[in-house]
Amino acid sequence: MKVGVFDSGIGGLTVVKSLLEHKLFEEIIYFGDTARVPYGIKDKTTIIRYAIEAVEFFKNFELDLIIVACNTVSAHALTEMREASTCPVIGVVEAGILATANALKDKTLNILILGTKATISSKAYEIGLNEEGFHNLQAKATGLFVPLVEEEIYNGEILEATLKHYFKEIKNPNAIILGCTHFPLISDAIQNYFSSDTILIHSGDAIVEHLQKSFDFSIKYNKTKLEFFASENPEALKAVGKKWLQV
Ligand code: DGL
Repeated sequence: MKVGVFDSGIGGLTVVKSLLEHKLFEEIIYFGDTARVPYGIKDKTTIIRYAIEAVEFFKNFELDLIIVACNTVSAHALTEMREASTCPVIGVVEAGILATANALKDKTLNILILGTKATISSKAYEIGLNEEGFHNLQAKATGLFVPLVEEEIYNGEILEATLKHYFKEIKNPNAIILGCTHFPLISDAIQNYFSSDTILIHSGDAIVEHLQKSFDFSIKYNKTKLEFFASENPEALKAVGKKWLQV
């Protein structure tokens, strides 16, 4: 299986990490739109336009599947990407909703959804979770976490102050959806801020769970060919990829 992974920038590498850990693919083509990141503050029309351009880019490769690692794109442009693509397209929002429904047997539990402004304003997670029977939801746009992670700030004073800024009025959730590619990198800090009992839902693990239910992955690839592409400064993306993924 040859898969394309699309993100607005480097954050989608957290999803690639999960794919590599589970040895699902023979080849991964990663495309990060580093020239135009962040998507999370843009409007729907722009996000759709950029997402369709990514589908066009992936047509240069004979892909079996496109994974949209970006929550913002998954929330706003999945239908349009599917229409434009010749191969199946799956997104992290749908996967995250299903993973949450699997992880939480009690539908009355309180779920906190985190994401960019665009993801939260789409209400994509709320709509999907409501359909799964969850109604005790809180949602918070926490876009400042994105540049912090890009600056490799995973703990310390600035992050603590940002956590306090966003969460001071949030009542302790039973589960948190890390609805943005960057947030798994600060999951320890988020977990520590709340309680060790709080269940964190990670897009990368969610997509693996979703894939394993939808496709036959009887073959495990001990070696995956990984290629990185970026709309700006691909060398920088490659360097981060090598560091994060230890490849
Ligand atoms: N990749 C985006 C997401 O998962 C976060 C960064 C951005 O705003 O583009 O929503």
